Amino acid sequence: MHLEVSQVLKQFDTSNGAIVALKDINMHVETGEFVCAVGASGSGKSTLLRLVAGLDYPTSGDVTVDGARVVGPGSDRGMVFQRYTLYPWMNVQQNVEFGLKLQGVSKSDRRMKASEYLDVVGLSKFARALPKELSGGMKQRVAIARALACQPKILLMDEPFGALDVQTKETMQLFLLELWERTKTTILMITHDVEEAVFLSQRVYVMTARPGRIQKEVFIDLPGDRTYETKRKPQFQEYKNDIMDILRGKQTDEALVA
Ligand SMILES: Nc1ncnc2c1ncn2[C@@H]1O[C@H](COP(=O)(O)OP(=O)(O)OP(=O)(O)O)[C@@H](O)[C@H]1O
Ligand SMILES: [Mg+2]
Repeated sequence: MHLEVSQVLKQFDTSNGAIVALKDINMHVETGEFVCAVGASGSGKSTLLRLVAGLDYPTSGDVTVDGARVVGPGSDRGMVFQRYTLYPWMNVQQNVEFGLKLQGVSKSDRRMKASEYLDVVGLSKFARALPKELSGGMKQRVAIARALACQPKILLMDEPFGALDVQTKETMQLFLLELWERTKTTILMITHDVEEAVFLSQRVYVMTARPGRIQKEVFIDLPGDRTYETKRKPQFQEYKNDIMDILRGKQTDEALVA
């Protein structure tokens, strides 16, 4: 899998004139990587992910997956959003089967695949529960299972833990890291939370606003085995501070460990 975003410009024409949401965006994600894009509100993160998902088009520039231009949504890219997007009238199992149903997968195969991925996210016991009976963290695990069940080449996540409380968020971060290691899924996630980006990823694209640009690519060279303790390490704090400085606009190249 090779995702490439090259020379992307995205402009919205509004009644107040043109808004340049993204400018000069170049990025890539390779098989098995966990990459985050981090930036303040309005830096174009959701716009960028929507272009990769094929939910919108760049004004100019290209998005390609394995050399093929993205022209719409596709089963090669799974998406998890910030807000809970489960269908409230379907139980957990049916929600996870939904994407497979759209793909025309047979009923028995759907059931098997959905069960397999509910097991991956640790929710087998809740297969018959309705979304309203689940906590926020559990709902996001169902959304992750639903995306993974279609076996996408890459999982795209737009602030998936943004609506969760601090403790649940931390539990979900550890869950996601463990899932990434176990399933070898390729992940591109966006977040405004610098700590989350440093904790989860191997590479971070730091984005700034007006217009949304990639200011810096930071390689996170932390030991593979990340736990709660990792966040207390001086090296972790250093990455976090460096990225915060870029976001505040007072970064110098020498300050970066990358
Ligand atoms: N459909 C649209 N029409 C007009 N302007 C838009 C549209 N979508 C996004 N924008 C503008 O593009 C810019 C980037 O928006 P975007 O939602 O991508 O930012 P974001 O980084 O995801 O912010 P947040 O962290 O708040 O989610 C903003 O100025 C926004 O107002
Ligand atoms: Mg957003």
